[in-house]
Amino acid sequence: MLEIGGDGRTWLLSGPTSSYALSLTEDDTLLHLHWGPRIGLADAEVLADRPLPPYRGFESQLDGLEEYPVEGGPRFVRPALSVRTDGIRGTEWTFSAYEVEDDELRLRFADGGLGITLHYRMRHDVVERWVTLANEGSAVEVLRADSATWTLPLREDWRLSQVHGRWAAESQLVRTDLTYGEQVIGSRRGHTGHQHLPWVALDTEGATEERGEVYGCALAWSGTWRVCVAQLPDARVQITGGIGYDDSGLLRLEAGESYTTPVFAGLWSDGGFGGASRAWHAYQRAYVIPHAEQDRPVLYNSWEATEFDISEDQQRELARRAAAMGVELFVVDDGWFGKRTSDRAGLGDWTPNPDRFPAGLKPLAEDVRALGMQFGIWVEPEMVNADSDLYRAHPDWVQFQPGRKRTEFRNQLVLNLAREDVQEYLWEKLDNLLSGAPIDYVKWDFNRCFTDAGWPGEPYPQKLWVEHVHAFYRLLDRLRAAHPGVAFESCSGGGGRIDLGVMARTDQVWTSDNTDPLDRLAIQHGFSQIHPARVMAAWVTDSPNTQLNDRVSSLRFRFVSAMAGVLGVGGDLAKWSEEELAEAREWVELYKEIRSVVQRGDLFRLRPPAGGLSAVQYVLDDEVVVLAWLQAQHYGEPVAPLRLQGLEPTKTYECRESGEVHRGAVLMHHGMPAGLRGDFDAAVIRLRRI
Ligand code: DGJ
Repeated sequence: MLEIGGDGRTWLLSGPTSSYALSLTEDDTLLHLHWGPRIGLADAEVLADRPLPPYRGFESQLDGLEEYPVEGGPRFVRPALSVRTDGIRGTEWTFSAYEVEDDELRLRFADGGLGITLHYRMRHDVVERWVTLANEGSAVEVLRADSATWTLPLREDWRLSQVHGRWAAESQLVRTDLTYGEQVIGSRRGHTGHQHLPWVALDTEGATEERGEVYGCALAWSGTWRVCVAQLPDARVQITGGIGYDDSGLLRLEAGESYTTPVFAGLWSDGGFGGASRAWHAYQRAYVIPHAEQDRPVLYNSWEATEFDISEDQQRELARRAAAMGVELFVVDDGWFGKRTSDRAGLGDWTPNPDRFPAGLKPLAEDVRALGMQFGIWVEPEMVNADSDLYRAHPDWVQFQPGRKRTEFRNQLVLNLAREDVQEYLWEKLDNLLSGAPIDYVKWDFNRCFTDAGWPGEPYPQKLWVEHVHAFYRLLDRLRAAHPGVAFESCSGGGGRIDLGVMARTDQVWTSDNTDPLDRLAIQHGFSQIHPARVMAAWVTDSPNTQLNDRVSSLRFRFVSAMAGVLGVGGDLAKWSEEELAEAREWVELYKEIRSVVQRGDLFRLRPPAGGLSAVQYVLDDEVVVLAWLQAQHYGEPVAPLRLQGLEPTKTYECRESGEVHRGAVLMHHGMPAGLRGDFDAAVIRLRRI
């Protein structure tokens, strides 16, 4: 809902539980008024009438109060907008008009020939903000154009939550007290990065998992990005964020050109961290993730089983075993194309390897379909190996600096996707691939960061950082439109490209290359702060986990860990015993029974993974699912009962495992035993409201 007051200079956006308000002063300064619980227009107008802080030398009267601080004038905060025109740096803007269309509020400003529009849209309790720059004057160099600056109310003791990590250790949740100055997170790597999800949360006055005020912001961008959380000298807190880090987001707008930033979404919740996560999840399922109402199938992926050593017959045999287990989607990972027998060759040559698939992918795909499964493949379109036909033909199609070494990671170079010829090549190859065999699913990987992001011959090569991402999005959008039945997964050496931007055009994401079921609990805990189980791919792989740590764990523990997201199996089924295959079949069957609750239900993190008992709970209508894990039991002490959340206290719930009937109030206040013992135990508990 959008309300307008103050003679058309105060705006109030409201969702089911929250409001966001802003207004223009007489001299066209755009001030932030409110972000928090629902208020009325009369409240916003009172806030709009408040005077600015008194003048003091060495202080800005605007810092910490403005909606979108531009560079220049009486400001000392990090500018959200920094442009250079005819050698002059900074912005002096005046308000032109506001428009409302389909619940979207647009505030138009101008500085000479540069039009600057701030966009606002409330979806559920999420405020989506973005900015458009339209140049009609002399060329403008855009040094920085953040999507939004968020202003928090004046409080004491803010705490910052973020998820950080690296390869195989993504999404580690940390909470630290905010202090004066700036805390900057981001990626200078060309992709979202394993190092941080582009999300922060700020809480105050000791928010807990289910209580207290939490503010969150998440950026919808899959390239370089930067989010800065600043506590200003007067203790006010602002969060500004958008594309680019240092000079990796520079753009140049000639007359007649325009640029639209990605969305930076913000959410206020007074339901603690759990309430904030549920609101983020509901928003993504309703507005971001394609076809979120459809449950994702159980997948088998052969990567950990076979790596590059693949053959058609071996894949067929794995498919037969996967189908017998109840798997619904069989995916051939890396190694099916070009001369891809190791990571040294083949990237770029997107036709089936004739030695491995003499008649192409079609026979295998058809056999997989005949087994009752969908068929999927792996690709990494943005990359090329020097040892490939593509690179031999077009060595200038990669990002490089003239006269400098071309840095390789995993023996590969990054294609310059900002080039139209590269875009067309990839479109043709991928379109042919999807047209040439019955392919239902594409795992789209990205296995190295940008290092030598040059574009010889291009007058403004810096634009490559942004245009690569736009070209990636366009290619995905075009493929989705041409092949609407094909689902896509975003992968980047595990979870290196997970953000609201890629999520709007993929069906699920690969959470991490770390498939150790214990490590995964922590990774999933961090991931769930912002993203829902509906997109979180998780595989059951072999024990011992030879990839990372040789940890031995039961099939039960591995399955229950992976059942917290979109279940997949990635072990070497050729080596699984008949007993293991039979047990796995039962777990897959159980997952199919609970998956709509897991993938579409409300998530409650009952206990974080911290060494002992941990558990998550999902609620969808009258169905409740609890997944619980015990890492280690100590001193023979019985394991604490699990106190459930989100139930109706006066209703009764029947446990489908034991047949026992429980009162909602008792389950929430006193809890129920999960029945776990020893080390690495796990359980699935299903309850139904009766
Ligand atoms: C990295 C991915 O995260 C893995 O799952 C696998 O697809 C490999 N790439 C293949 O090269």
